[in-house]
Formats: sequence, C-alpha cells, structure tokens
Amino acid sequence: MRVIIRKTYEEISVEAAALVRSRIEKKPNLVLGLATGSSPLGLYKNLIDMNRKKLLSFKKVRTFNLDEYYGLKGDHPQSYRYFMDANLFNHIDIDRTRTMVPDGTAKNWEEFCLWYEEQIKKAGGIDLQVLGIGSDGHIGFNEPGSSLASRTRLIALDAQTIEDNSRFFEDRNQVPRFAITMGVGTILEAKEIILIANGKKKAGVVAQAIEGPVTSLVSASALQMHPKVTYFLDKEAASELKRIDYYKLVEEAEGSLGKEIF
Ligand code: F6R
Repeated sequence: MRVIIRKTYEEISVEAAALVRSRIEKKPNLVLGLATGSSPLGLYKNLIDMNRKKLLSFKKVRTFNLDEYYGLKGDHPQSYRYFMDANLFNHIDIDRTRTMVPDGTAKNWEEFCLWYEEQIKKAGGIDLQVLGIGSDGHIGFNEPGSSLASRTRLIALDAQTIEDNSRFFEDRNQVPRFAITMGVGTILEAKEIILIANGKKKAGVVAQAIEGPVTSLVSASALQMHPKVTYFLDKEAASELKRIDYYKLVEEAEGSLGKEIF
C-alpha cells in the first residue's frame, strides 16, 4: 500500500495523472477502470491536458466504469455515461466504442451484470482501477454491508449516498434509489488500484479504510487485501490517519530507490 499525501487537491490530481500516464505508456492498450463523482475530476482534467498536448494517447485504451444509476438513460445529465462523456471521453482521442459504462436501462439487470463481468474478462481484466470513496466508505456503489466477494449487481442506495448525491439533482426525490455497480470482489480483481480522496468530510472514513479493520461495513477497507493500491489524499482527507510519518518515510525510500514500494 502506498499513501501519497499532498497539501492540495490540485497536487494529488497531478500525481494521480502522472501514475495513470506511466501505466498507459507502459501498456498503450491498458484496460482502465473509471469512477465518476467529484474526486477524479482533477485527474481527468490533467489527462485531458496531456492528451491535448499530445503527450499521451488513449487510442488503444479500453475503459470500464464502476457504476451507473439504475433507471437513468445515458443521455440524462446526471447519468454516469453522460458524466464520463462530458468530463473525459469527449475531450480525448479515445474510441467511444471502447468505453463501457453499465447500462442503467437494462430491463434484465441480472443478465446484464453477468454480461458486464464477461466483457471485463474478455478484455483481459482491469489493469488499473480508479476509485473515489463515499462518505459511508463505499467504493463503486458498494454500500456498507456489501459482501467483500460481491460481483456486479443491482444495489439499493443507502440513505447517506442519496443525501450526498442529491447535490447534483434538483431535489432529493429525483435521486435514483438503485444502481448497477461492480462488486467489491470485481474491484479487487483489478491488477492495480488508485483511490483519490480530498476534503475534511472524507477524513474519518479514509482512516477507517486504511487503518481500521477489514469489514464489509466499510467497503473500501477491503482494499487492504489488495497488493497494489496507491491512495492519493489531500492534507484534509489524510488528517485522521495515525501513521502519516511512516507513509512519508516510505515515500522518501521510494525517492532514494527510484521505485514504487507497495
Ligand atoms: C462513482 C463511485 C463512487 C464515488 C464516491 C465518492 O462512480 O463509484 O464510489 O467515487 O461516491 O464520490 P465523490 O468523489 O463525488 O465524493
């Protein structure tokens, strides 16, 4: 586990983008798992910038998004397909047919979820998964109590998530009650994971996820069982961690070795 802590959100966004860039440079046909929400927006801005400056190409990259609201069509402004197009895909040289977001209108959602998992498998699995963390500890939409072995499925959103996400809708009643999400087990199969968190509001849950016990009540704590995770935290999100000195020490060691240490 690597924990990178910087003063500002802008700094962690730059560093997360540098990591994504390095992985695409190493494997141009990288399979990238993506998240929506406010946390990865800075990362996406930096990736768009690199693409514009022709420092990085997404032509061979494939993407799989974590989740989608159930009941929203892809052209709904609050759908995650719409979000991804508006905040990343429309601004980079990616082939749109290589971008996958769960279908929020799938009538037979059970069949759809199996199909989505199958597509990930066929692509060779996710090489690098980008995550945010919900204030209730969810990754994807894996609400507290999700099995740590869960797969892509329909999930009922927690009241806290509906409350958190109501800021994007005209009123709380418009927030969908269900979503399709990759499971915790699906996420753990990614070869590498980065999690971005910023702001004081995330401090408690970030500390629980990184330094607390592994529990289905904090889905992100399951990442402790993954061998290759990097957390990008701003100072506020890191403010309740107890082992900050050690994380700094590891970073210094990485500097002197010229290598990432997980
Ligand atoms: C979104 C997703 C969620 C968000 C989480 C944090 O695709 O999977 O887990 O990452 O709700 O959201 P923000 O970044 O808006 O605080």
